[in-house]
Amino acid sequence: MTQSSTGGPAPSYVDPTKASIARVYDAALGGKDNYEIDRATVAKLRTVAPEIEQFTVDHRAFLIRATRFLAGTAGITQFLDCGSGLPTAENTHQAAQRLQPDARVVYVDNDPTVIAHGRALLEDNESTLFSPADIFTPAAVLEDPAIRRLLDFSQPIALFQLGTLHHYDDPARSPQSIMESYVDALPSGSYVVIAHFFDSEDGDADSELARRLEDVFVHSPMGSGRFRTRAEIEGMFPGLEMVEPGIELCVRWWPDGPPPPSPAPAQRCIVGGIGRKP
Ligand SMILES: C[S@@+](CC[C@H](N)C(=O)[O-])C[C@H]1O[C@@H](n2cnc3c(N)ncnc32)[C@H](O)[C@@H]1O
Repeated sequence: MTQSSTGGPAPSYVDPTKASIARVYDAALGGKDNYEIDRATVAKLRTVAPEIEQFTVDHRAFLIRATRFLAGTAGITQFLDCGSGLPTAENTHQAAQRLQPDARVVYVDNDPTVIAHGRALLEDNESTLFSPADIFTPAAVLEDPAIRRLLDFSQPIALFQLGTLHHYDDPARSPQSIMESYVDALPSGSYVVIAHFFDSEDGDADSELARRLEDVFVHSPMGSGRFRTRAEIEGMFPGLEMVEPGIELCVRWWPDGPPPPSPAPAQRCIVGGIGRKP
């Protein structure tokens, strides 16, 4: 019997032959809602990039700093967190509501484990909502009546796509086109936050590492993880004004203290950015 990291058997909604993006991410962050297949995927990634856990921590820390900037300096009180992931030590609503106690936060995810745990842990108060929907079908999110009841689309909203778009790779519709639909639906003064796997394309060791990591992600039981170029990622902020410093390594995007002088190789393969709709 496949067991969770705390030793319990896998519930019926978990397919023990398939790693899930949410659970692999949870395993890399040291969480407990993951199974052997997920931990084996992290172990495989570690053979290519020994600092894979730091890569994941950088990503999550960027989410929290971005939330603090938006709820603080930018004064945003509405958050639409697409691909929330499993509840972890600090979640978007906790970071936002510390600065804006009335902030409304909607989480969207379609992973069965996130749906099972998300409702219980992410719907923490009357200003938070979890909605199970496909984030790569913008209409499913934007026309969801429950989401529309909590968020006022005539007022600025911060839309998050952190660690999500690199798991999308469908020739039928580009990730840039998906983001266009989201941006079109947001009012002026809204923000979009994206964190994405990054290929520096400079032909050096970083680009080579990005290619090797992509190979492991795509051929893992999780089956996805594209490392895209700066131009491809820029295209996911259509018509938006980038907040300084633009698209930057997560570890270097307004760190809380002095940034590490030389990030480890995998840390140079994950970037984040925030764009504002004029
Ligand atoms: C790597 S986790 C990122 C979690 C969180 N956003 C963060 O940055 O810490 C990506 C999340 O996106 C969710 N996801 C992937 N494809 C999705 C889809 N089509 N619809 C909804 N959620 C999706 C996964 O279930 C997973 O929880």
